[in-house]
Amino acid sequence: MKHEKDWFKDLIVYQIYPRSFKDGNGDGIGDLKGMTQKLDYLKSLGVNAVWMSPVYASPNVDNGYDISDYRSIMEEFGTMEDWEAFRDGAHKRGIAVIMDLVLNHTSDQHPWFKESKKSKDNAYSDYYVWREPGPDGREPNEWQSVFGGSAWEYVPERGQYYLHFFAKEQPDLNWDSERARADIMDVIRFWNEKGADGYRIDAISYLDKGLDGRADMSQRFGTAACANLEGTHRQIRGMVKQMMEPDHLMTVGEVIGDRPEDLWDYTSASRGEFNMAIPFVPPVVELETWSPSRIKERLAAEYEALKEDGWWARFFSNHDKPRQVSLYGDEEKYWKQSAKMLAAFLHTLPGTPFIYQGEEIGMTNIRFASIEDYDDIDTRNYYEEQVRAGADCSEALRRAANVSRDNARTPMQWEDKPNGGFTQGKPWLAVNQNFREINVAAQERDKDSILNFYRRLTGLRKENPVMAHGEFKLLSPAEGPVVAYERRLGKARWVIVHNFSAQPASFKCPGLDRGEVLLSNWGLEGRLSEEMDLRPYETVIVRMDEE
Ligand code: GLC
Ligand code: CA
Repeated sequence: MKHEKDWFKDLIVYQIYPRSFKDGNGDGIGDLKGMTQKLDYLKSLGVNAVWMSPVYASPNVDNGYDISDYRSIMEEFGTMEDWEAFRDGAHKRGIAVIMDLVLNHTSDQHPWFKESKKSKDNAYSDYYVWREPGPDGREPNEWQSVFGGSAWEYVPERGQYYLHFFAKEQPDLNWDSERARADIMDVIRFWNEKGADGYRIDAISYLDKGLDGRADMSQRFGTAACANLEGTHRQIRGMVKQMMEPDHLMTVGEVIGDRPEDLWDYTSASRGEFNMAIPFVPPVVELETWSPSRIKERLAAEYEALKEDGWWARFFSNHDKPRQVSLYGDEEKYWKQSAKMLAAFLHTLPGTPFIYQGEEIGMTNIRFASIEDYDDIDTRNYYEEQVRAGADCSEALRRAANVSRDNARTPMQWEDKPNGGFTQGKPWLAVNQNFREINVAAQERDKDSILNFYRRLTGLRKENPVMAHGEFKLLSPAEGPVVAYERRLGKARWVIVHNFSAQPASFKCPGLDRGEVLLSNWGLEGRLSEEMDLRPYETVIVRMDEE
């Protein structure tokens, strides 16, 4: 597909986690054939881009985020022909194909690494980050990896350690090596030529390791110690200019962006880096710190920081996070209302919404009975860490369950059939048993379902540029559960109100009684007044256009 500049601003992106989306051949693992079967469903949802988590050859230590060959498709997912069939089917329906680029690290089974570890003077010896041992043969420094334990691993053949910010099977690439960089650019060129329309770029804030003293050694995690160094920004600009900008390929980087200024650095058009950023927040942190007030504070700060020439990726969910209705909503009593409220929130903010598979039917977190049932490497390591720190097994399991990445990875629930219609075989990860109540087929039949609410939202967004492009202003007070804002574009003026809590709340807005309700989740029954009483998790989108 050909793309105009700024086309990414009018996308609605759907993220597929291929392993868990749809199994096309009955081996229990989702695959490209299954994805192609569901293209009409995606079209009917109203999305116009699909980001697929990695489908490249991989030993699956980190479910595909450990790539052993960037130019071939993981056998379990199918063949390059299957990928091309998906691409063609998507393009025929006006859906762009966004690939996941993992460029911070490869698998330790990648041929580059297998060569690199052999000696200090082979053609690939500088493709990874190698360092001499510290005093007494210890690690070169105390950096921890994201998945627990030291970020360094010793290799006797070289008498050196290599750096891995994630699992030890995911060695970090050395972007300072010109040859490595040229090979990485070739990988991108390969997918450009295959017809990718854009990229989600994985874990990209720490290409420059700052090991010469520029990293912040007070940080425990290597990823935090060298986050957002200028060398990383320089590398990103070089890559984008060469590989993505010429054809306006869409780019969204997964970054460390605790401060709004960091997001500006990554997404402002004037700097020539990414179109959008996905700030990474560890689930444990999110779980402990989120609140409606925090959300409002972030919203306002990020709007101010990016409104001139940046852009926002809007999401609550992805393959690394708990299910949004379980974390920010109420998965029991107000399941339906809160799932809809969260959706209305994400789709009425300035920016590009990202829907994570299953979110559109309100899928919830999983609770497995034993740690053995969890697949995610991060969950297993976290559990062991908790036990080592003195937690008893059931407490450790409870903590791990709340933040486990498997919450997002249980198979998609298509219908009330064995395994939720995900597979005819034995699923690689157990299906959430609530598939009998929560599934696509049931929600297709129900006019009032979460799924059909998403369709109304995507439909509204296509017809009303104010949703993506309008100016934004918070209307609600800083404290309290009500998040309300105004959007304006030309004569269009919308007021959008959400109650982020299970308690009733109220909201005052002059003129609201003259507005027209475009969408709501409780059925408004004529309750539109200047002083609104909001029910639990109520959401209302009101049009108040000027004459
Ligand atoms: C990103 C991915 C995550 C992966 C990690 C290492 O955070 O989203 O799933 O484990 O990078 O590639
Ligand atoms: Ca399969």
